[in-house]
Amino acid sequence: MALSLTYNKPSLKGSIQVPGDKSISHRAIMFGSMATGKTTVEGFLMGDDCLSTIACFKKLGVKIDISDKLVTIQSEGEDSWSEPSEVLDTGNSGTTTRLMLGLLAGTGFHSVLAGDESIAKRPMKRIINPLREMGADIRGRMDGQYTPLAVQGTGLKAIDYTLPVASAQVKSAILLAALKAEGKTIIHEPIASRDHTEIMLEHFGATIAREDHLIKLEGGQKLTAAHVQVPGDISSAAFMIGAALITEGSKVTLKNVGINPTRTGILDVVKQMGGIIEIEEIDTQGERSADLTVTSSALKGIEIGGDLIPRLIDEIPLIALIATQAEGTTVIKDAEELRVKETDRIAAVVKELSKMGANIEATEDGMIIHGPTPLTGAEMTSYGDHRLGMMAAIGALAASGEIVIDDPDCISISYPNFFEQLNLLTN
Ligand code: S3P
Repeated sequence: MALSLTYNKPSLKGSIQVPGDKSISHRAIMFGSMATGKTTVEGFLMGDDCLSTIACFKKLGVKIDISDKLVTIQSEGEDSWSEPSEVLDTGNSGTTTRLMLGLLAGTGFHSVLAGDESIAKRPMKRIINPLREMGADIRGRMDGQYTPLAVQGTGLKAIDYTLPVASAQVKSAILLAALKAEGKTIIHEPIASRDHTEIMLEHFGATIAREDHLIKLEGGQKLTAAHVQVPGDISSAAFMIGAALITEGSKVTLKNVGINPTRTGILDVVKQMGGIIEIEEIDTQGERSADLTVTSSALKGIEIGGDLIPRLIDEIPLIALIATQAEGTTVIKDAEELRVKETDRIAAVVKELSKMGANIEATEDGMIIHGPTPLTGAEMTSYGDHRLGMMAAIGALAASGEIVIDDPDCISISYPNFFEQLNLLTN
C-alpha cells in the first residue's frame, strides 16, 4: 500500500542503532554453513535479503535458528549439505544469488537458483565466466546470463583471474569457489571493492594472502565455526546521515556503524561537501565500527568518480538527493554499474528526483545535479528498489508538499525498521 509523507521543516534529534550490515550478515550465514561447528551471529540484519540467504541454506539441510538477539548455525561443514529438492529462492538479493553460485559450483549435487523479477534481469555472466574457467557446470538463459540458473556441482580448479569490473560479488563468488578448488587461486583487483569476504575468511580460520591489488587463496582449506559481531550498516546509516544534513537544526548520533574503509566513501563525500560529521571509533575485533554524529550543514557540490565509486556505490541515490540541496554542481561519473543494480539507478534516480523539482540530468555513467533547488511534493515510484524508496522518504523531509511512495514495503529488504527510526528522530 502507498504511503503519504508530509513534513513541515522537521529537525532530527536523537540517537539510534541502525540495523546490521547486509553484506556481512549474508556472509556470516554462508561462512557458518560452510564451517564445522556452531557459529553464532550477533547484530544480524533481519531484512528480506538476508532472510532469503537463510532460507536457501535451510534447503541445503543446514540447521539455522533465529532468536531475538542471535542467529545460530550448526553445521558439519560443506560436505554435509544435501541436494535441495526445491528451487533455491534468492528473492531480490544479488549477493545471495551471486555468492551462492560460487558455493554451489563445487558441491557434488544439482541445484537451481532463481529470484524475483529484478534478479531475473541482472547480469550473471560476470560470475559464471570465471566459475566456468574453474570448471563449473552452470546453465541458464542466454548461456547463463540470467536466472533461473542450474548448477551441476563438480570438481573445480584454481584460476588466475583479473576482475573486469570492480565487484565484491564477483570477487567473493570466485573466492568461495576457490576454497574448494585444487591449487592456488590468484585474483587481480584493479580497483578495490568491499573486502568483507577476505576478512571473514581469516576470521573462520582460512589463510589468505593480500597485497597490493592481489589476493591469493590456496584451495582445500576447511573453515572452523566462529562468533560474528555484525556492525550497523553504513549503507543504511547513510540515509539518516543525509536526513540530518539537509534538515535545519538537526543533530543525530548513529551508534556502532561499520567503517570498513572499503565502505566509507560516503563519509569522505559528506566531509568534502562541507558536512559536519564526527567519527568516534569503537574498539572492536574484526570489522571496524564507530559512532557517527551528524549535524545539519550547508553543503556544496563536488565531483565524485574513479576509485571512490565502489566505496559508495549503494549510497549514490542518497548522494544525488543531498546534492539537490547543495550549492553548486555535483558530478557523479564512472558509476555505470548503477545501471545493473536492483533497478537502473541512474535512470530511476534522475526520473524520481526530477518529479520533486530537482535540476538533475543523466549521463552514460552517472549524473549531474545543479543545486540548490527547493523540492516539492510528488508521487514517487520505488521500482521495488529499497534504496529508491528510502531516497523518496528522506526527500520528503526537505520537500514543501506531500510525498507519496508507491511501495514503501520494499524498504524492508535492507532496513526493516526504517520508518520507526525515522519517526523516532523526527519526533
Ligand atoms: C555487495 C556488493 C556490491 C553492492 C551490493 C552488495 C556485496 O555489489 O552493490 O549491494 O555484499 O558483496 P557489486 O559487487 O555488484 O558491486
